[in-house]
Order: sequence, then structure tokens, then C-alpha cells
Amino acid sequence: MEKKNLYIQTFGCQMNVQDAEKMAALLKDTGYETTDDPGRADLIIVNTCSIREKAAQKIYSQLGRFRALKEEKPKLIIGVGGCLAQQWGDRFFQRVSYVDLVFGTHQIHRLPELVGALEQTGERKVETGFCDHVRSLDIPAQPPPGAISSFVTIMQGCNNYCAYCVVPHLRGREESRPLPEIVGEVETLTRRGIREMTLLGQNVNSYGQTANDGRDFADLICALGEIPGIGRIRFTTSHPKDLSLRLIDCFGKVVPLCEHIHLPVQSGSDRVLRRMNRGYTAEVYLEKVAALRKVCPEISITSDVIVGFPGEEEEDFRATLDLLNEVRFDNLFSFQYSEREGTAAAGMDYKVCDGVKRERLRILQALQAEHTLVKNRACVGHTENVLVEGPSKKESGEMTGRTRGNRIVNFPGRRELIGETVSVRISEAFLHSLRGKMEEKGAADVH
Ligand code: 5AD
Ligand code: SF4
Repeated sequence: MEKKNLYIQTFGCQMNVQDAEKMAALLKDTGYETTDDPGRADLIIVNTCSIREKAAQKIYSQLGRFRALKEEKPKLIIGVGGCLAQQWGDRFFQRVSYVDLVFGTHQIHRLPELVGALEQTGERKVETGFCDHVRSLDIPAQPPPGAISSFVTIMQGCNNYCAYCVVPHLRGREESRPLPEIVGEVETLTRRGIREMTLLGQNVNSYGQTANDGRDFADLICALGEIPGIGRIRFTTSHPKDLSLRLIDCFGKVVPLCEHIHLPVQSGSDRVLRRMNRGYTAEVYLEKVAALRKVCPEISITSDVIVGFPGEEEEDFRATLDLLNEVRFDNLFSFQYSEREGTAAAGMDYKVCDGVKRERLRILQALQAEHTLVKNRACVGHTENVLVEGPSKKESGEMTGRTRGNRIVNFPGRRELIGETVSVRISEAFLHSLRGKMEEKGAADVH
């Protein structure tokens, strides 16, 4: 088979990165080896994201850079996949004339066939149809050799229709993978030496609702927790309205499940939450946080917040700040509301102007920075179990890893420790990481 080079660039969420891994695996079977140099590529795939306007703009500017390569090498194939491709379909060609292939989020499994046809005919193609069963869900995770952690897709799509969000429009209806298939995949990854699995889905808490065997996400976590030799289990992303008491209980009894939950709240104002179609109130959210902390007092809780959703008044924004003060998140991802085509919010009145959004984001992030720092400083003097991921990017001679609560820890250490769990005594705390000294190697990864 003729050897060809593939360069894949990803944008956006982990689901997008996972999909790109699957694309690389599929194309490998047709002779494409991945390269990290786009200049050497015969095929470039840009896996796009459309969650916010900023993501979309970045993608267009990146594609602009590939234009020169295409001019130098006319046989180079440029394909765009992912959410923006799904959204724009053939309108992509009007905007980026040198793109050869546009394929949607349900068409990944057809990539070898679509690329093969392009190689033969050179004819541009757009494939953005939705399928009842997303075939790429059946492709197992393929972490690169030497990886110590892996994402495992357990479901795809979303049925929630939050008013601001394009995802249900671009990834289709929710579909869960059968439980035995996921267990089998995690067993294989564990045997291959993967020490940390992150279960992935747009809303993992509603896992099982489309699988029809009555088993839900808590059942899945319990089943995975029993796999011999399994390392750490994490999951993302959770919807507060579907966070069940049974799942909360798992944090108290399933030892491999890390003490961390990402639980996006989006706003602290009931009025805004209602307009967002989130399906819970601030009070219900706080009750769930209290229940999590009751079962697992050391749990680290992170969240997402959007500021400047249409109709958000000062008083609503203050309610969000109040909620932050009440919960004291370990970390927070916060965004200015970005209008997305086709969503319910795009048609809403009372848009908040950019200046106000920017200012609210600044205030929110300053408050959260205080909270994060206080939480990180509270780790000083304690010993944390750290799964070592690799050399630190900043300091030579230092290794970097994560606590079970998902904090980054740097400490002096050797490369041989990669993939091991070590005890590190924390001596310093910063906004984005901790630093410490290793106490022992091969600590049991338990809380
Ligand atoms: N504007 C701003 N932020 C958004 N998010 C999703 N859609 C939008 C949007 N239109 C944020 C939410 C979500 C995170 C992944 O991205 O906070 O939880
Ligand atoms: Fe971006 Fe959402 Fe698509 Fe992920 S699912 S790539 S976050 S638009």
C-alpha cells in the first residue's frame, strides 16, 4: 500500500479530539500515517467546533494558513469534519473555496470511502446527513502507544436543547453505547496499561436512556469499578438535572472513581436558568452539591458559567456571584454568551451588549481566582496521590501529574515514574497548579 501522510488538527471539546483519534485509526487502514508537520501532508483534516463564535473564527484563520500549502501542492486534499462542518455543509465552499471535503458528525465512519473517491476523481463532496445509529460510536478508543490515560466515548448526541447550545442541532439525538461493550473496552485498555479512563458524553448522567436494558450511568460506574486492576475513573460532562442520588452514592463507594465532578451550572439566577431551559433552579443545584459533599466531603467540584445570556440583568448576574460564593468551586470555566445560529436563544430579545458581557466576565473570573487559590492553598501540607503524566512543560527535571481531585501537581522526579501513582507532599500552591516533593512511589490510588 502506498504510504501517505495525514495531518489532523482538532478544535473544541474532548469529543472532538476523540473523533479525530478515530479518524486517524480509520485512515491508517487505507495507508495514511499521521504526521505533525502539515507541510508533509497529503491529506489535512480539520476537525471543527462551533460551540462559540470565537472557535469558529479560529478555524477559518487556521484554514487560511493551509491555503498556501494547497497552492504549492494541488493534489493535497483538505477535509473539514466536526460541528462547524455539520452546521455549514456546502456553505463551507463559499467561504473556503479550496476545501475538498465537508463531512458531518455522523459521517466519520465513511471517511476512508470519501477520501478514496476524492483521490480517484478529485470531485468535491459534502456529506452531512444524520443516521439513526452513529457508526463511529462502535470504534473503540485507540490511545497512542505509551499513553497512560484514555477517553472512552459512552454516548453521543444530546436531547436537552439548552437555549444557547448548538450541540443537539449538530450532533443529533442522544445515543448510548451498550454497557457490555463499554466494559469490554475498558478491560482491554486496562490490560494495555491505561491507568485513567475518562468516560465521555455530552450528558453522561442520562446514559442508558436509549439503551433499553434499564441500566443507567450509576450501574455503568459500578460495573467499571469492579474490573480487576482498573486505575482511575472520571467522567464528563454531567447535567445537574440528571445527577441521580444513585450516582452521587457512587462517590462514596466506588473506589476507582476520582473525587471530582464537573457540574456545569451556567447561571445562579432562576429566571436565567428558566430561559436557558436548564430544567433546575439554583436551589436544586445547591442541594445536589450538598448531597455530593455529604457522601464525599473532599470532592472537588468544577463548573461552567455563561455571562450575558439574553435578558441577564445585573440582579441575575449578582445571583451567579452569590452562587459562586456559596458553592466555592474548585475551578470554573466561564464564557461570554455567544449567539449560535439555529438555537432558541438566537431568537430571544434583550441581548446583552459586548462591553457588559466583558465586564461581567472579568468580575466573575476575579472572584473565582480568589476561590481557586484558597482551595489550592488548602492542599499545602497535605499528601496527595498523583498519577504521573509526563515531564513538566515548564521546569526541566520535574514531572507533572494530577491528583484525584484533578489538580495539576509538579514535583522533582524522573521519567521512569510516568504512569505510576506517587505520594506527593504539597509545599506550594498557585492558581493553576501545585508543587511538592515525592514521598513514596507506588502508593495505592485510594482516597
Ligand atoms: N455561548 C457561550 N458559552 C457556551 N457554552 C455552550 N454554548 C455556549 C454559547 N452559545 C458553554 C457552556 C458549556 C460549555 C461547554 O460551553 O458553559 O457548558
Ligand atoms: Fe464544539 Fe460542542 Fe461540537 Fe464539541 S460538541 S466540537 S464543544 S460544538
